[in-house]
Amino acid sequence: MVSKEEVREDLGIARKWIYLDNAATSPMRRSVTGELCEWYRDVAENGDLNYEVYMKRLEECRDAVASFMGVGSDNIAFLKNTTEGLNTALLMLRELGKREHRDTFVTTDMEYPSNLLPWAREKCRIVRNDDHLIDINDIDKAMDDKTIALAISHVEYSNGLKNDIRELKRICDEKGVRLVVDVVQSLGAVDVEPCMDIACGAGYKWLMGPYGVGLFYVSRELMKETELPFLGHNSIEYDETERFDHRNYEMKKGARRFEAGNLPFPLIFALTKSVEQLSAFGKKRIEREVMKLSGMLIGGLDLDIKTPRNRGAIVGAAGDKRLVEILRRKGISISARDGLLRFSPHFWNTEEEMERVIREVNAETSQGPH
Ligand SMILES: Cc1ncc(COP(=O)(O)O)c(C=O)c1O
Repeated sequence: MVSKEEVREDLGIARKWIYLDNAATSPMRRSVTGELCEWYRDVAENGDLNYEVYMKRLEECRDAVASFMGVGSDNIAFLKNTTEGLNTALLMLRELGKREHRDTFVTTDMEYPSNLLPWAREKCRIVRNDDHLIDINDIDKAMDDKTIALAISHVEYSNGLKNDIRELKRICDEKGVRLVVDVVQSLGAVDVEPCMDIACGAGYKWLMGPYGVGLFYVSRELMKETELPFLGHNSIEYDETERFDHRNYEMKKGARRFEAGNLPFPLIFALTKSVEQLSAFGKKRIEREVMKLSGMLIGGLDLDIKTPRNRGAIVGAAGDKRLVEILRRKGISISARDGLLRFSPHFWNTEEEMERVIREVNAETSQGPH
């Protein structure tokens, strides 16, 4: 069994920082950045000669990522990031809405701008939070037979509130509403039940991969019902005759068709390496660790904690923003988001680190306001 110490050995950051900002960006393991270098070395020496090898490896990557998410490979496309996924979802659903005589989206005011701005520019109902909590009954009330889709995070970025996506799917289904879930703050930390119509995520947070590669899940039903918003050479099956007949072509199988152009191979290969490593450590074991470590912070910090019981790995607390800078000078990295101090430990952080952070924060807060 892979030990936490082995993971920490492979992470440069663990020796320098108490890094509790994994909800912003997780550090990459040296073995993962090695994959990036390897691809650039290969293309420097071989140009396009290994293109088919990359395309074959791409399918292995799709299988690995799909298996990690507990979904079929045909449901997964590699996009650039979560934001691109959410905007792609919007374009698909807006068209579907026109056909179904539905014109309104629903989201909440706890969403990250990427899951708020695109919908809010359309006809949209925005469910308000009450002290960093969203009441599922308010979501239910906001939806009716004119609602196209509900867009919501699985785990909210500011305080780690974990929305019950199974229950949300149930109330969406009752009204014929599609469910779009931003999974970037849960995938890689806590289990994501793939019951939604669309899920959007990225590699650089809890999955410990690079920037520039996002994951886009679409259910088979929705793929059948919607049009592709983007189309390109990579959306269609390769034509051996090289004629690329624009009137007569076959779409690629499943969600592959969303990858309209050439893909960032090194980023996808590196992300997959990381996903394989997370699988080897154990998904359940990761969840146990992140819940234990974040639970220590919730129990120990003398701050006004705004993270509820139904939560992911993120801890949000009301407090003086200047604490971020004070802690940074002590080698501890946290962040401030949406008016809260945010602590986000990953599985490779240690209990000793949590104890030290609790000591440092409580020593600062006991001195009164800065
Ligand atoms: C909940 C949430 N959604 C979306 C994003 C943006 O992700 P991306 O850079 O993959 O588009 C973030 C970034 O912090 C986030 O926290």
